[in-house]
Amino acid sequence: MVLLLPNLQGDLVLPKSSNLFLIKTIRMKAAVFHKIGDISVDNVPDPRIEQADDIILKVTSTAICGSDLHIYNGFVPQLRDEVLGHEFMGIVEETGSAVTKVKKGDRVVVPFTIACGQCFFCQQGYHPNCIHTNPEYYGPEGDLLKGKGGGMFGYTDLYGGYNGGQAEYVRVPKANAGPKIIPDGLEDEQVLFLTDIFPTGWSAVKWGKVKPGDYVVIFGSGPVGLMAQKAAWINGAARVIAVDLLEYRLEKARRVNKVETLNADDEHLIQKIYDLTDGRGADVAIDAVGMEASRSFLEKAKAVINAEKGTMKVIELCTEAVRRSGIISVVGVYASPFDNFPIHRIFDKGLIMQFGQAQTHLYIDQCFEMVRSGKVVLDDIITHRIPLTQASEAYDMFKHKKDDCVKVVLKPGMN
Ligand SMILES: NC(=O)c1ccc[n+]([C@@H]2O[C@H](COP(=O)([O-])OP(=O)(O)OC[C@H]3O[C@@H](n4cnc5c(N)ncnc54)[C@H](O)[C@@H]3O)[C@@H](O)[C@H]2O)c1
Ligand SMILES: [Zn+2]
Ligand SMILES: [Zn+2]
Repeated sequence: MVLLLPNLQGDLVLPKSSNLFLIKTIRMKAAVFHKIGDISVDNVPDPRIEQADDIILKVTSTAICGSDLHIYNGFVPQLRDEVLGHEFMGIVEETGSAVTKVKKGDRVVVPFTIACGQCFFCQQGYHPNCIHTNPEYYGPEGDLLKGKGGGMFGYTDLYGGYNGGQAEYVRVPKANAGPKIIPDGLEDEQVLFLTDIFPTGWSAVKWGKVKPGDYVVIFGSGPVGLMAQKAAWINGAARVIAVDLLEYRLEKARRVNKVETLNADDEHLIQKIYDLTDGRGADVAIDAVGMEASRSFLEKAKAVINAEKGTMKVIELCTEAVRRSGIISVVGVYASPFDNFPIHRIFDKGLIMQFGQAQTHLYIDQCFEMVRSGKVVLDDIITHRIPLTQASEAYDMFKHKKDDCVKVVLKPGMN
């Protein structure tokens, strides 16, 4: 009898003494981040149940998010290989012994933050701050490299080191708290964005306390901005003004969401926002851009000198565009401190601000109901449907905004 031994990659190999051949274990395909700008689709070991409340999901659809670009571009650091992807859905393949919420064969969509559902923060709906899902790096401080929030799928070791769902299979921890069952009759693309960007747009609008009659200005007309535009209308906004630099994205916003648009490059941008808001400024300003907003060479040089990651330019614009005693809601991601934060203007105008990862667990049922009843359509922002095996090309296209790309859906089953 010949003994087969596992090697470091989990393959079964014959011992060196025998005349060699290698027997590969079954491996799934996944989009693996290696280093800045380097993502490839590799064969990696299949995920396994590790905790009793885990499930294994066979992924049917997954998407690329602006947040993935922060890792791809090196703004959120990751030093070892990791499977990316936090926007995914699929069919339950296997359940741990303590899983009661879902069963094998259920079709589910999964929130991008990983949360226990039980702790102090989860009980209040602040699942992104769950104390149980990021054991190594969690803490109250919120510093650059320690004291971070709860875990997230495919979002670096700092957020738990969980492999993501841009893969054929993914391990989903805390399965009694996160996954939401999707009934037959709804296509993947109709509900996929319940995993992140629609609840994110919804969180932005809820944090902004948008109410009937409000004027809302939304910076960024990428996937998150487009979702915030939809959420603003549903909450009764009288005017929704979208700001972006890319004309094709503004055109998309006009077409799918019937909003008014302004180009961020317009030198009279702020005056034009005042003109549209009775000279006062917007009741609510939303930042759906984050730290990777476009910036000049000089601004980039200043950021290097100050050890800043990217820019807080859009937060500054929000403080100018919003009215006195207005609200700024920030869902665009920031990952470092910034000099010259406009605290003087925030104080003088008496502004309220809220920041953070979206409350997907809190809002997913409400958001699902809007989709089911036809109150909102989410899949009209999709521009590309691509096989998972072409993830590397898809990242390049989304990053460089080629081919009028707005939102990419990756399909593991597609050739
Ligand atoms: N808080 C959360 O829970 C959460 C969830 C999802 C995404 N995000 C974040 O939301 C942000 C947007 O995500 P996305 O997927 O829409 O990304 P995206 O990169 O596709 O969109 C960003 C848009 O901002 C535009 N932009 C750049 N500079 C600008 C400026 N100065 N003024 C106005 N617009 C400008 C770009 O042209 C682009 O259309 C990212 O920071 C992402 O990480 C946060
Ligand atoms: Zn996302
Ligand atoms: Zn918790």
